[in-house]
Amino acid sequence: MHCSQTIVITGVTRGLGRALTEKFADLGHVVAGCGRDENRLSELRDKPGSPHSFQSVDVLNGPAVGNWAKFVLKQYGTPDFLINNAAIINKNNSLWKVPEEEFSKVIDSGLKGTANVLRAFLPAMINVGRGIIINFSSGAGRIGFPQIAPYCAAKWGIEGLTKALAQELPRGMAVIPLSPGPVNTEMLQSTMGEKTATNYHSPKEWVERAAPFILNLTPADTGKSLSVY
Ligand SMILES: NC(=O)c1ccc[n+]([C@@H]2O[C@H](COP(=O)([O-])OP(=O)(O)OC[C@H]3O[C@@H](n4cnc5c(N)ncnc54)[C@H](OP(=O)(O)O)[C@@H]3O)[C@@H](O)[C@H]2O)c1
Repeated sequence: MHCSQTIVITGVTRGLGRALTEKFADLGHVVAGCGRDENRLSELRDKPGSPHSFQSVDVLNGPAVGNWAKFVLKQYGTPDFLINNAAIINKNNSLWKVPEEEFSKVIDSGLKGTANVLRAFLPAMINVGRGIIINFSSGAGRIGFPQIAPYCAAKWGIEGLTKALAQELPRGMAVIPLSPGPVNTEMLQSTMGEKTATNYHSPKEWVERAAPFILNLTPADTGKSLSVY
């Protein structure tokens, strides 16, 4: 068993972020999470509850992310792990039929949202020269899938951003683009359909492998495109 780690996660209200949050809390780690769905945030404030914290933050809102980071850093100190999990996918559609606004939202949530979180937390983490950052990528960030071109573009962007950042961070820190593989969440159901999505692991099954995998990442892994299925 690891000693208690402080773990910041975006997108904790459902899917992989929620499953990781519940697993990390069960393992005795402390989670500071964010999302937008107030009802689900309130469930998390009941269980696992304190000493964890769950705040309503839209990662697209830079000033709100900045305030959240100030609160987290003051309350818990610099995180051991920072997990950029929040993202959205476009409704299945050929690229030329995806409305401009939807295209922007997919790119912004995945890429600019991650950059906002990094901008807010990195100075403190670099200051102590410690911490592992995980940016959620996807198979869609390594090959192309039809009908989800905006999402592929966002995830290829995550891979590039992460590999560039890996060369900027001091030794002792790491930033890793991590693909979770297909897991039966609302996001997978949106692109594959609910029936096909049931062929894949549930978030609760996936997290049994993913949580220890993440906790075992080290500075030697920085910049590597990794996957946990
Ligand atoms: N499931 C898969 O098969 C799969 C495969 C490859 C990669 N991934 C990646 O894994 C990560 C998690 O995916 P998932 O399947 O768990 O998706 P999901 O079920 O749709 O959950 C997405 C989470 O992100 C949050 N979120 C979205 N936009 C946000 C914003 N602007 N600000 C704050 N939170 C936001 C959502 O919460 P709110 O709505 O409450 O804000 C929700 O908690 C994503 O990065 C995804 O691209 C998933």
